[in-house]
Amino acid sequence: MGESKVIDEYDFDLHPELQTELSADERELLQHIPELTELGTERRKFLGQAAASGLGILALQLLAKEQVLASMEAPEGAVFAPVAEENAVAVKLKINGVEKTLNLDSRVSLLDALRERLALTGTKKGCDQGQCGACTVIVNGRRVLSCLTLTATCEGKEVTTVEGLAKGDDLHPIQAAFIKHDGFQCGYCTPGQICSAVALLQEAKNGEASHVSTNLRTSARNLKLSDDEIRERMSGNICRCGAYPGIVAAIQEVHQGRETAQTWRFVGEDEIAALNVEGKTDEIV
Ligand code: FES
Ligand code: FES
Repeated sequence: MGESKVIDEYDFDLHPELQTELSADERELLQHIPELTELGTERRKFLGQAAASGLGILALQLLAKEQVLASMEAPEGAVFAPVAEENAVAVKLKINGVEKTLNLDSRVSLLDALRERLALTGTKKGCDQGQCGACTVIVNGRRVLSCLTLTATCEGKEVTTVEGLAKGDDLHPIQAAFIKHDGFQCGYCTPGQICSAVALLQEAKNGEASHVSTNLRTSARNLKLSDDEIRERMSGNICRCGAYPGIVAAIQEVHQGRETAQTWRFVGEDEIAALNVEGKTDEIV
């Protein structure tokens, strides 16, 4: 705060008992608040009094807010033109195999474009700041965090979301394996996990190294990934439910192409009824 000055030197009608000091910043703000129509003088008086009673900055903020709101009041019968998109850009891209052209603000993230503009809500918003992996989608074959990707940078690219993985009623092998190995609980992280896993398999086929790869000198295609490798490569996808063992088992099964047995099954109503009779409902898991 700068220098202070006695408030009654300014053009407010201030109650004599409420004279006090205003800082230079407060004075500056007061001078810039224009008269509000009808009640302008009264408001300035109120402001001066409020400032004098120790509520200076708060009163200034309230009045400034009120001023903004007042300026937004529309005259009766006013007709508005549609609000123009700020910084609008047209982006042409292919989403799940379908060409789309989007006119949107250049600052819109791919995640918001998918969810809010295209109603592709399979892609989830978790942290919205690149920490959780819930928003993972595949762009030109590589997994990306859609919350950190501007839609405007996807011109001409191919985007695959979890909605684009199945072929009709046939689930993608990774989707089927997630079900088989109980790779999810609440399911919130699952679309991101699945997209990440699909791209991971391709990375292994391409021979791309990871942080825990033991040999960086030679790059062989069709890498055989250990569980540790899969954990490392999936480490950007957080699961609050802790479904990690099932996720790793699901990816490993598809990666190895080797069928492993499902370790759970749905229990039928007859079985539940029979267990109820025998008092063995604790055996249902
Ligand atoms: S929502 Fe994008 S990383 Fe969390
Ligand atoms: S299944 Fe719930 S967060 Fe992963």
